[in-house]
Amino acid sequence: MTETIASLLQEGRTFYPPEELVKNSNVKKFMEKHGIENYEELLEKAKDTEWFWNEMVKEVGIEWYSPPKKVLEWEPPFVKWFIGGKYNIAHDALDKQAKLRKNKVAYIWEGEPGDVRKLTYGELSREVNRFANVLKEMGVKKGDRVTIWLPMIPELPIAMLACAKIGAIHSVVFSGFSEKALLDRILDAEAKILITADGFYRAGKTIELKNRADSILGSAPSVEKVIVYERCGVSTNMEDGRDYWWHEVLKGIPHSCETEQLDANDILFILYTSGTTGKPKGVIHAHGGYAVGVASTLKMIFDLKEDDIWWCSADIGWITGHSYIVYGPLILGATSIMYEGAPTYPAPDRWWDIIEKYGVTVFYTAPTAIRMFMRLGEDYPQKHDLSSLRLLGTVGEPINPEAWLWYYKYIGNEKCQIMDTWWQTETGMQLISPLPITPLKPGSATKPFPGIEADVFDSEGNSLYKKNAGGFLVITKPWPAMLRGLWRAEERYISTYWSTYKDIYFTGDAARIDEDGYFWIQGRLDDVLNVSGHRIGNSEVESALVSHPMVSEAAVVGKPHEVKGEAIVAFVVVKSHVKPDEKLKKELTEHVAKEIGKIARPDEIYFVSDLPKTRSGKIMRRVCRAVMLGKDPGDISTLANPEAVEVVKKAAETGEICYG
Ligand code: WTA
Repeated sequence: MTETIASLLQEGRTFYPPEELVKNSNVKKFMEKHGIENYEELLEKAKDTEWFWNEMVKEVGIEWYSPPKKVLEWEPPFVKWFIGGKYNIAHDALDKQAKLRKNKVAYIWEGEPGDVRKLTYGELSREVNRFANVLKEMGVKKGDRVTIWLPMIPELPIAMLACAKIGAIHSVVFSGFSEKALLDRILDAEAKILITADGFYRAGKTIELKNRADSILGSAPSVEKVIVYERCGVSTNMEDGRDYWWHEVLKGIPHSCETEQLDANDILFILYTSGTTGKPKGVIHAHGGYAVGVASTLKMIFDLKEDDIWWCSADIGWITGHSYIVYGPLILGATSIMYEGAPTYPAPDRWWDIIEKYGVTVFYTAPTAIRMFMRLGEDYPQKHDLSSLRLLGTVGEPINPEAWLWYYKYIGNEKCQIMDTWWQTETGMQLISPLPITPLKPGSATKPFPGIEADVFDSEGNSLYKKNAGGFLVITKPWPAMLRGLWRAEERYISTYWSTYKDIYFTGDAARIDEDGYFWIQGRLDDVLNVSGHRIGNSEVESALVSHPMVSEAAVVGKPHEVKGEAIVAFVVVKSHVKPDEKLKKELTEHVAKEIGKIARPDEIYFVSDLPKTRSGKIMRRVCRAVMLGKDPGDISTLANPEAVEVVKKAAETGEICYG
């Protein structure tokens, strides 16, 4: 740690936004227009839900086919926004832009090998229209599900927007997930079409997709057709009558396509996210509210203007990419960067090179990436001119003040406000975040966005507002991009989010609110890990381990990790005839990668003869985690097998195979 950072940390000081930023900010202009004097007054005034969101609709220039009759209908736990409005998000993201900003670049895309493609709004819109026509020809209708397993190439947003355009529901599966994870998601959504690629480039290697998908397609009877984009010339098996090359199906296809006029509350997409059981949850978002939510936060928080170059470094396979690479920036008519590959390939300054080359002005990334670059040292960013940057952001996990300050100093050159944005797949849009006018405290996501009402409750449901005491983060009023449910899992929707407190959205995060009303997010309360900013259910990894023929039981817990935030640690009981060894450890690690994806691979595996359990047979992860971290496991007298605690402890301490 450098000395300046150490001293800044000690000060615990507040960082005031640069005057220039405040003066020219979109939010300041909005306030001036409405005679609002200061931040507090803005938050107060925005409590008038109807007024505020109606104003946001105007701010981001939403165009309805026919205007809504009512802003919202809240029948907890179900919400509808912009009732009666006829709408399609593809209109604002594309049709409108193709007229207003025909020759403006929508995406500057860079492939990992260095190939570059620039797509103007006119071109993007044409490509989407053509692909939408292909989907129609293949029999895709409104409400049908289309699964998309594509890497970070322009065809990914093209495929998503083509679905939106014709009213089909897209379900994007992160390209780093395994084919088994893809299968689960196809089956749950009963997708009619799969869109994928032959492969993609990552860290100098070619990662295959289509050939891997082949191994599960036999188990996915709903999939009638597969469209394959040729990205890297991998020799690919194509099944007659089922598989089609993207470039071939596009031949002779017309460039125009009517946009389907939908209800504002029709479903736009499903995006699966990890929960506390092994089965991922299919989070549902709808066209109208989502459009207003993502565009208004991007405009007000990240202050996007016509000439900005915006780069959100997330993968589109996660919600951050859906909201802030695809829909938000397009609705605002922005120019975005999209990058295919690994952040440190071919050298650890690849990202800084991209920022310099394209003059990126606003940059949004994850704390885990910042920590990784911090370890690599400031020489890499210092080799580049990053002076185009005027605003920075982070998302995905709490940012430790040390990483915050490094980002502030070495990337932002102490002149960029940092937006620490808290939100979730379920919230669709950023909910707690600074605005350009908000004084910052490193490590705090500051305050709820105007119009958002968040609080921290104790277990009885009492508010801990400004009490500086840890509790459960809740959202007390619906917001436009709120999830509309879980795909075909209404009970799970109610029990996960709405059963802790009546009519109050339960986020699953722990937090405290300090005396100034600043929110400090402390991490997840449920059995969900946050590895490099990605949610992975403990039980998901456990089920993957137990699906291996040699494993009988497993407990998976998180351990603090310098770069990833959390590392995955697994305690594994093997079947009685099996002799555990190093080879099996490797095999299990690879097995998890195959079942879920590389991001879920355990960092450490310990073989034990037994795991602590309750009398009803439930494995006590909490106890495993406590002893692994050298903490007091609490009262263990109620366990069915208290002696197992010692076994786990010894295994974690010595790394030896511990058989009771
Ligand atoms: C965590 C990502 C602290 C949190 C958009 C949340 C954060 C989960 C922050 C959602 C932040 C996200 N500070 N924690 N700024 N942003 N989180 O669904 O635990 O992938 O519940 O959405 O990430 O992760 P998800």
